Amino acid sequence: MEENTEYHAELFPYLQSWGLREFRDEASYYGWQRETLSKEELDDFQRLIEHRYGDEKGKGDIEFYDGLARRDLIPILYSQRLQYFLTIGTAVCRRIAPAQQVLDFGCGVGILTIFFALQHPDVEFVGIDRSPRSVEMACLEAEKRQIRNVRFELSHVPPQQISGTYDLILSTHTLFQTEREPGIPSRTWETFQRVVDHQRQEQLEVLTGVHGRLDALLLVLGLIGRMLIFEKTWNLGRRIFFQRALDARGLFPISSPVFCRYRSVDEEVADGPLYEVARNTQGVETLGWNEEPYRAPGETLYRCIGIAADRMGRVLAMDQVSASFSGVHSSFGSWVWRFGLWKEIFAWGLCEHSSGLTGLIIGGEADRDLLHQLVETVTHMTESDFQELVQDFWGDLIHAKEDQSAPCYENHHPSAQIIYERLPSKHIQQESTIQDAQRGEMHIELGTTTRLTYLYCANVFDQRQLVLMDEERAQVLREYYRESLQHPYGPPA
Ligand SMILES: C[S@@+](CC[C@H](N)C(=O)[O-])C[C@H]1O[C@@H](n2cnc3c(N)ncnc32)[C@H](O)[C@@H]1O
Repeated sequence: MEENTEYHAELFPYLQSWGLREFRDEASYYGWQRETLSKEELDDFQRLIEHRYGDEKGKGDIEFYDGLARRDLIPILYSQRLQYFLTIGTAVCRRIAPAQQVLDFGCGVGILTIFFALQHPDVEFVGIDRSPRSVEMACLEAEKRQIRNVRFELSHVPPQQISGTYDLILSTHTLFQTEREPGIPSRTWETFQRVVDHQRQEQLEVLTGVHGRLDALLLVLGLIGRMLIFEKTWNLGRRIFFQRALDARGLFPISSPVFCRYRSVDEEVADGPLYEVARNTQGVETLGWNEEPYRAPGETLYRCIGIAADRMGRVLAMDQVSASFSGVHSSFGSWVWRFGLWKEIFAWGLCEHSSGLTGLIIGGEADRDLLHQLVETVTHMTESDFQELVQDFWGDLIHAKEDQSAPCYENHHPSAQIIYERLPSKHIQQESTIQDAQRGEMHIELGTTTRLTYLYCANVFDQRQLVLMDEERAQVLREYYRESLQHPYGPPA
């Protein structure tokens, strides 16, 4: 993810001018919502959410956005999107130049469109949306702020068509909104690859509305025009489906897609990526489409303390220990750090302190460099560095009651697949592959690897879960296996 410093300083006070506020915990956010809205208003809002999806013509969705487009409701409902606006607003704003004519498809009440127009006074912006009240509010706001380089139009695309020609088209959370659609499944639970099935792709494009919207946008995109598209396509099945829809229309990425993470009040949201695409015309350098899962730096890392760290440390230290450092401090006690590589799969660092603390940090091949940096840090560590490191890595675990069934390693990301495939002396004890017409294939496996027991769950929508446990506590995983078989797609609602 990129650092969004440019435009950030202007965007924050601008969002405050719409009444948006920053909340870091749910209790204060929902408390404010309850204080500000009456019970009837909250019930109305709930009804709008319930009726939002389900009809083909988007009637429920239009009513939903019409219902939200009230100046008194915007601060309360949109404050939870503050970090979204900051993240995507800055990322889009810095990519607008050198465009002269910009279309913002699905502009809503115009929060971002007006900001872009303010920041780029020599560029003409047109915002279109199918919600009449949103467009009304966007017009009023632009008028109130005396912004002359933006106009807003009511348009439901398709069936309506867009007029004009644009050298930049923006779409943020509008083109592919069908959030429950998981996209294309992988061939089997063992791979992330998808077969190319043109017929299925076309069916999905029609079902999700992507087909009609994209085709309408392409009619007004200038020959050398670009599109900046930010949709909820982090999930690989959705991402591949969406990328193939762009590819089929001759659109290719001209810069690396930007995967974004931000907070929605206290919840971390993975969103995007932001695509910058253009038609494959001469003179424009394009990149290929990447159909691999996104791997965030540090995603394979796992930390534990106490019994889990101690037991895993014993197993790891039987293989290569590549470095060992110790230190003594008069007031703070003594510590020993050991680093190593286990079976060429895991890089790890184990810290034992005279207070009795044992802390482990461990990660896969992809994060080996991060662990090497840790070795460097530890080599030159002072007492305050030590305290800071311990706090950063294990602080939250130290202050909580120790969980006796905490795993020795756990990974919930696609990177778990690589670690699972490389586990040495793997012996499967029990396994089951479940077929479900709607939710796809799911595999659950319990087995042993060198001095450890593992549980692995994987499905065709890229969910992965690898858990490792020492032999003495293997029973925890056997029970987990049994429970997973009873509810393979998660606990019943
Ligand atoms: C999730 S909101 C996003 C608003 C804004 N782009 C943002 O990022 O905050 C989606 C908006 O797209 C509009 N919309 C959805 N489908 C549309 C369509 N087919 N034609 C025009 N507007 C559409 C909705 O009315 C809504 O205002």
